[in-house]
Amino acid sequence: MPETIARGLEAARARTSGLTQFGDGELTMQHSPLMSPLVWDLAHIGQQEDLWLLRGGVAAAQGQLPAAIERLYDAFENPRASRAALPLLSPGQARAFLADVRGRVLDALARADDTADALFPYSMIEQHEQQHVETMLATHQLRSGETLLGPGAPLPPGRALASESVLVPAGDFVLGVDAADEPWSLDNERPAHAVHLPAFRICRAPVRNAEYRRFIDDGGYADRRWWSPIGWRHRLAAGLERPQFWTPDGGRVRFGTLEPLSPDEPVQHVCFYEAQAYARWAGARLPTEQEWEKACVWDPSAGRRRRWPWGSAAPTPALANLDGAALRPAPVGAYPAGASAYGVEQLIGDVWEWTSSRLEPWPGFTPMLYRQYSAPFFPGAGASDGDYRVLRGGSWATGASAVRPSFRNWDLPIRRQIFCGFRLAWDVIDG
Ligand code: AVJ
Ligand code: FE
Repeated sequence: MPETIARGLEAARARTSGLTQFGDGELTMQHSPLMSPLVWDLAHIGQQEDLWLLRGGVAAAQGQLPAAIERLYDAFENPRASRAALPLLSPGQARAFLADVRGRVLDALARADDTADALFPYSMIEQHEQQHVETMLATHQLRSGETLLGPGAPLPPGRALASESVLVPAGDFVLGVDAADEPWSLDNERPAHAVHLPAFRICRAPVRNAEYRRFIDDGGYADRRWWSPIGWRHRLAAGLERPQFWTPDGGRVRFGTLEPLSPDEPVQHVCFYEAQAYARWAGARLPTEQEWEKACVWDPSAGRRRRWPWGSAAPTPALANLDGAALRPAPVGAYPAGASAYGVEQLIGDVWEWTSSRLEPWPGFTPMLYRQYSAPFFPGAGASDGDYRVLRGGSWATGASAVRPSFRNWDLPIRRQIFCGFRLAWDVIDG
């Protein structure tokens, strides 16, 4: 098991290096006020690895960086828009720092006990690096000029679905996981507990570009009936007229290249309020995260959870679009073998899916050693700027080791630079 984690750490580092192998100017500039300069993410990856794996999370202990420098990489102390102005490590210094920390970490890992408790922090840091890789991909998408990343690897073709939605009958299921079953699950995914849900219907696929286009052409952005009051205010204030990166005439810019919209690709780069408005226009609603997770992993005939929607096998390129090589979501229908027990597809990978749920702790929540990972974002927490909504399932950019059916991502409802879309759900009367 330590070897598996060592390989996972190295795979995450290969992705990090691939996104930061550019000239110093590209790495130190602020590409968007929403994002850090790439060199901040780079050094922050090393700083967190140093803190949690070499010092057991004791910030007061001496790390590989002077304390005054280390503080620059505290995400709570330094808002993203201010980071380019800080006296950060240069790209060369950051790379040397990461390599030094990683060497020490691999030595410690080789000597670690082969138990889930001893290895959890290593997996947590592998997942943390993968999360920042996805953040750096969002920075690349926001950057102007020719892409530094190429066109992306090919994906399987889509197919027509025999039906658009499935019925999930009323009943109990097990929401969340325990360490015994999912040793690398993070604190907010635990503990497993029984939940009753009324019957609902849920779409077998995320909403496609062509479907979203019809909402726009039908005047959806001008019709306040479809929007929540706060969503409408945001639509006006931010001047939203179409998904981010779409052009008025039906194109989109993807990593610096203008291309026609693929009609059957899941829509990306819509905020929670846009997703909610589309759902209302379509006579539907967003799923709750409980509904999403039940449709994803509950096996009703066995009366238990699966590890993945399709069963116990780890994700492969035939099952899900993960790990970033494609640089885009796959068309709807591309993963028939990835379907859940209820026949729902593309739950894992492709696009993060907005749910209607706020990020709240499951009953019995206990913070993990990185105590500030989840808790500051719960309702009523001091540092919270409130109203974080949960997204599920990971995107094409998410590392396979950093997502599970129980994994809970969150962001503010106005954000759309992340690789996010949504699927529809409906109440069922007499299910
Ligand atoms: C889980 C994606 C919301 O990137 O803001 C990274 C994860 N926490 N470093 C984020 C995180 C600390 C977090 N999200
Ligand atoms: Fe971080």
